[in-house]
Amino acid sequence: MRFPTSRSALLSAGLLFAAAEASSNATFEQQCGSLPSSLASVIPNATVWFSEFVTAGTNLTFPDNNVTCDRPSQVVSADLCRVALRVPTSNRSEISMEAWLPVNWTGRFLSTGNGGVSGCIQYEDMAYTSGLGFSTVSANNGHNGTGGEAFYKNDDVVADFAWRSMHTGVVVGKKISEAFYGEPYTKSYYLGCSTGGRQGLKSAQSFPDDFDGIVAGAPAASFDNLTSWSGNFYKILGDPDSPTYVTTEMWATIHEDIIKQCDGIDGALDGIIEDPELCDYRPEGLLCASDATNTSSCLTGPQAEAVGKVFSPVYGVNGALVYPRMQPGSEIVASNILYAGPFAYTNAWYRYVIYNDPNWDPATLDAEQMAYAAAKNPWNIETWEGDLSRLRDRGSKLLQYHGLMDGLISSENSPRYYNHVSRTMGLPTEELDDFYRFFRISGMSHCTGGDGAHAIGNEQGNMESLDPDENALMAMVRWVEEGVAPTTLIGTKWKGDTADTGVDYKRAHCKYPARNVYVGTGNGTDIDGWKCVVGGVGNAKQEL
Ligand SMILES: *[C@@H]1O[C@H](CO)[C@@H](O)[C@H](O)[C@H]1NC(C)=O
Ligand SMILES: *[C@@H]1O[C@H](CO)[C@@H](O)[C@H](O)[C@H]1NC(C)=O
Ligand SMILES: *[C@@H]1O[C@H](CO)[C@@H](O)[C@H](O)[C@H]1NC(C)=O
Ligand SMILES: *[C@@H]1O[C@H](CO)[C@@H](O)[C@H](O)[C@H]1NC(C)=O
Ligand SMILES: *[C@@H]1O[C@H](CO)[C@@H](O)[C@H](O)[C@H]1NC(C)=O
Ligand SMILES: *[C@@H]1O[C@H](CO)[C@@H](O)[C@H](O)[C@H]1NC(C)=O
Ligand SMILES: *[C@@H]1O[C@H](CO)[C@@H](O)[C@H](O)[C@H]1NC(C)=O
Ligand SMILES: *[C@@H]1O[C@H](CO)[C@@H](O)[C@H](O)[C@H]1NC(C)=O
Ligand SMILES: *[C@@H]1O[C@H](CO)[C@@H](O)[C@H](O)[C@H]1NC(C)=O
Ligand SMILES: *[C@@H]1O[C@H](CO)[C@@H](O)[C@H](O)[C@H]1NC(C)=O
Repeated sequence: MRFPTSRSALLSAGLLFAAAEASSNATFEQQCGSLPSSLASVIPNATVWFSEFVTAGTNLTFPDNNVTCDRPSQVVSADLCRVALRVPTSNRSEISMEAWLPVNWTGRFLSTGNGGVSGCIQYEDMAYTSGLGFSTVSANNGHNGTGGEAFYKNDDVVADFAWRSMHTGVVVGKKISEAFYGEPYTKSYYLGCSTGGRQGLKSAQSFPDDFDGIVAGAPAASFDNLTSWSGNFYKILGDPDSPTYVTTEMWATIHEDIIKQCDGIDGALDGIIEDPELCDYRPEGLLCASDATNTSSCLTGPQAEAVGKVFSPVYGVNGALVYPRMQPGSEIVASNILYAGPFAYTNAWYRYVIYNDPNWDPATLDAEQMAYAAAKNPWNIETWEGDLSRLRDRGSKLLQYHGLMDGLISSENSPRYYNHVSRTMGLPTEELDDFYRFFRISGMSHCTGGDGAHAIGNEQGNMESLDPDENALMAMVRWVEEGVAPTTLIGTKWKGDTADTGVDYKRAHCKYPARNVYVGTGNGTDIDGWKCVVGGVGNAKQEL
């Protein structure tokens, strides 16, 4: 049985269709109620907890969800059938997952991803995409909660985290969608950021048949090395009583100093750095006077040296690059997490995966340990394969984005991956453009937030518009279904940084390797005053 019968006709008109003819409600609800029994033959090894019809506006609560996930409730955006199930992935591991199947189905399938080292179904993403008519699935990545304890001496849980939860959730989810609607999906999509961005790249690299379109944000690619790099800040900066430690207040001062030095490179003094790669920050301007007695708002020599290391790449054994530098502009977020002490995700990864030693001490991290982690590379979680030819050959598309104020994952790792693919496949940008495009989002923090035009529709809470020019997910849908590839991604800056405070300005973010330069007048709020240019450093206006 399929819902609704008029779907194809409305789809071809390019509209989300209205399924909710009064008479069909009961049928949809009935079908939802009987889904568990019809799934028994489709996914024989699954345990379906329940399925329930949920109406738009319902505030779901998740009393069984691990409290560390900090997702106690979620308002649902559409009438839908909600299914929750568990699927074993080995004899000592399983995923728990949900499928949200909207009445107003567009024929599209979508999987969301996860974050950090969790362990959490991202219900907000399910609400967003099911509300847009995708039959949406999300899995818990093989364990519950934001910590890594479940990895301890259980390599199958690690496998789930590295690749198997996502892939299994997609395989199972497509079966659920088809069993429910009575017909296969038309196109399949992925939307995720951070660890979710890495999961998107993992799919592109290893499971190219899973999706027709992958939107991968701020990917935690080169994962082992990323955890080493994140842990290395504690080695650079130390504890609060260390002479190299820099307070969050001082990092705010450093941020202002960075803006002073680098904001104008793009031609607009707007507090936003369009290309941090061009910012070679010099902290010595903040050195304390030699007779200073109060050094809390200036840098001592050892502190300035430590700040310099923060903005330098990390090299390991035999001078091998471990991970690129933190990009300048990210200080406010980074200082509260990465620079504030031992980093929880690094501890989790080294303790419960790399060494299986819950007492591993983050102060011992050194180049040898970093090399050991990179060589161990459990289940190839590094996610650094540069050959995307299988993805290309089946016609799938990959859209990557990275916020240039990201304070958790250096935005400089994303062009590094793009260039790695370019070299590995021997394809210049003009040819990569056919299936892989990367956008740098100035003024965007880690996946959302930040000082600039960061609302690009990658999340429900970071969306101004469904216009494909302004929405990363809908841009992907248009690329896959109409062959119109995005050339820029327009972001919105809200006045009070929430959608209901109104638009302050918009900015068209450039496709890498282009960078944005301002050739207009005024302070940079004029979207038409910006130009995407490749190469050229220095005063933007003089060059053009
Ligand atoms: C389905 O979509 C139509 C058109 O977008 C909308 O008017 C209607 O409220 C939606 N119905 C449900 C049940 O979500
Ligand atoms: C069908 O569902 C729609 C949307 O929830 C609701 O407005 C309408 O009253 C329902 N019709 C019946 C007959 O229950
Ligand atoms: C949803 O319910 C939870 C728990 O009862 C409550 O804390 C939350 O504010 C509710 N959300 C909305 C948007 O009403
Ligand atoms: C995860 O939590 C769900 C409840 O939300 C529970 O049913 C499932 O068994 C848990 N999975 C693991 C691996 O602990
Ligand atoms: C359970 O079924 C799913 C879907 O067919 C499959 O991916 C998974 O490997 C199976 N689990 C086990 C332990 O066989
Ligand atoms: C679980 O499966 C592995 C092979 O994947 C096997 O070596 C092991 O003996 C099994 N354990 C149990 C308790 O069945
Ligand atoms: C919830 O998550 C935390 C952090 O990962 C973990 O320590 C705890 O065991 C989890 N609780 C349950 C009931 O799974
Ligand atoms: C040092 O300067 C900071 C900021 O300028 C101020 O808040 C603090 O009270 C001063 N400390 C001492 C010991 O004077
Ligand atoms: C990870 O770091 C090691 C050195 O510890 C290096 O040899 C390796 O090339 C790095 N991997 C990536 C993907 O950068
Ligand atoms: C930028 O200029 C516009 C137009 O002159 C003005 O409305 C706006 O307030 C200015 N914004 C900032 C941040 O200075």
